[in-house]
Amino acid sequence: MPGDVEFYLEEIRRAGSLVLELGCGTGRLLELIAREGFNVVGLDRAPSMLKIARAEVALLPPDVSALIEIVDGDMRAIALNRQFKLAIIPYRAFLHLLTVQDHRAALASIHEHLEDGGRLAFNIFDPDLEMIVERSSDIGDALTRLTECETPETGRKIVVWDSRRYDLERQIVTEYRIFEELNPDGVVVKKTYTLLALRWVYRYEMEHLLELCGFEVEALYGNFMRGPYTPEAEQVWVARKVG
Ligand SMILES: C[S@@+](CC[C@H](N)C(=O)[O-])C[C@H]1O[C@@H](n2cnc3c(N)ncnc32)[C@H](O)[C@@H]1O
Repeated sequence: MPGDVEFYLEEIRRAGSLVLELGCGTGRLLELIAREGFNVVGLDRAPSMLKIARAEVALLPPDVSALIEIVDGDMRAIALNRQFKLAIIPYRAFLHLLTVQDHRAALASIHEHLEDGGRLAFNIFDPDLEMIVERSSDIGDALTRLTECETPETGRKIVVWDSRRYDLERQIVTEYRIFEELNPDGVVVKKTYTLLALRWVYRYEMEHLLELCGFEVEALYGNFMRGPYTPEAEQVWVARKVG
């Protein structure tokens, strides 16, 4: 996401070590944080992602990798027995939480793992209501050709098909994707299916949730350059632990 790395690094420079990244995935940010000299703990619930992250960290110079700790865990029940100056949830990972109970459990757990006055910074998309309504129809739910790319291993073309289902009642969008691998004659030789469910969160819903869970909102930006909140763009939040 353009600008997100610099935004999170700015927040980290402001807070200093120790940083907790929730939903760290394959560790895109962990190396960059450690290269700036900060200690960071990356937590994720997907073993497949953490396997890649650990392999990448193992390739780093020892003085950088020594600053990184990777743990298996769920942001709804963090059990690290220490407190951090800053928790970050980049790349919309908060939206993987699909119920209000999940939201509250995660925010309570983060609260417990922050020092007094510690901060939480994260970003989520702001729901595009027009698109949601449009794509809630039968036609909108059709399979569309999203993009194409090449596999790094074989150089074969991959065509990505995408279909979304919007559940207006539960605020959940489910993305179904098909990855078709083509041979040089254009024949499909392999198909991979993926499913991803995200729960969108409205601006004031998020504000209330944060306040309910012991945070004071310091800022809601509309992009990573700290511009004003704009509907249907990004919600970039910075909140401080109080109480
Ligand atoms: C889009 S990836 C973000 C990766 C990384 N933060 C980045 O910026 O590149 C979302 C990650 O959140 C993780 N995740 C989803 N729900 C989680 C939960 N409840 N606890 C911990 N990790 C979770 C997923 O496994 C996935 O690796």
